[in-house]
Amino acid sequence: MKEALLEVRNLRKYFPIYSGILRQKTADVKAVDGIDFAIYPGDVVGMVGESGSGKSTAGRVAIRLIEPTSGEISFLGQNLLAFNKQQLKDVRRNFQMVFQSPYASLNPRKTVGDAIGEALLYHGLVKNRNEQMDRVAETLTLVGLSPDMIRRYPHQFSGGQQQRICIGRAIAIEPKLIVCDEAVSALDVSVQAQVLNLLAELKQKMGLSYLFISHDLSVIRHLCDRVVVLYLGKVMESASTEELFKNPKHPYTQALLSAIPISYPGEVKNRIMLKGEIPSSINPPSGCPFRTRCPYAQPICSLTPPKKEIFDPQTGKSDHVYHCILD
Ligand SMILES: Nc1ncnc2c1ncn2[C@@H]1O[C@H](COP(=O)(O)OP(=O)(O)O)[C@@H](O)[C@H]1O
Ligand SMILES: [Mg+2]
Repeated sequence: MKEALLEVRNLRKYFPIYSGILRQKTADVKAVDGIDFAIYPGDVVGMVGESGSGKSTAGRVAIRLIEPTSGEISFLGQNLLAFNKQQLKDVRRNFQMVFQSPYASLNPRKTVGDAIGEALLYHGLVKNRNEQMDRVAETLTLVGLSPDMIRRYPHQFSGGQQQRICIGRAIAIEPKLIVCDEAVSALDVSVQAQVLNLLAELKQKMGLSYLFISHDLSVIRHLCDRVVVLYLGKVMESASTEELFKNPKHPYTQALLSAIPISYPGEVKNRIMLKGEIPSSINPPSGCPFRTRCPYAQPICSLTPPKKEIFDPQTGKSDHVYHCILD
């Protein structure tokens, strides 16, 4: 069986809340509350859910940018949580992130050449300035920008071009996994499509894997092989993209699909509309956290979270499949 590039088991991230004069801990925000997923080499795993469902936290904690509260993380079979500072610095070369707002991610006083080049120096991948600038020029071409732009500043680029620069900065050090956190959400729809195409192309050329976080299922559909649906820090459903769109098994997934403005006739049955607010992640509902908004909820849903299986017979990979217990 193939080895997962990144695999997380029972991963949790709680943020403590302190209050009162003594600043005592009074509660926890359960941002990520016991999730499992695996990313295999060359795969694109989508992570979807409403705002506040824990997607960004899950993305950061999975590559140990922030420390988990509990759980396991393995990178190519190694225990990432056992790594010391130096080992972590070395292994970080394999992970990069691309964020929603490219302009905010770029230093306005640094040229594009320096923005892309500094990680190459930091990781010791180039020996001198000439080599560095050659690599940057090569990278700019890869992300569809002209190498002549190397001395320009971020504000001289459009939003789509700025995101290309951020992608360039991420791929320059040849990582294995890029976490894209709402990476196309701030872009116009036509530009979104171009950047998604670029990501797909780079994946092929460089053998990359992505954890692709988005609140928008229609974007997920274009790029992802598998999808993990998060709600209040828990996985509601995970399946191959094809299966998830053809036959969504969790009412929350069905509700998210209902929210896609363009419909695909005949593909989604039992469409439901989401009503009410997402509950607080300080005190989430027991069992399946979606039950308070679910039209099909039964008493058993307050006791049992979505069903988890560890093997996916469809792909033959040891992956995590979740679905509604009523299914
Ligand atoms: N640094 C933090 N401190 C306290 N709470 C946080 C922090 N980061 C995120 N949260 C909370 O964790 C929950 C999940 O947030 P987030 O991971 O940003 O979700 P998403 O990316 O899906 O919108 C939210 O309730 C958010 O307020
Ligand atoms: Mg987020």
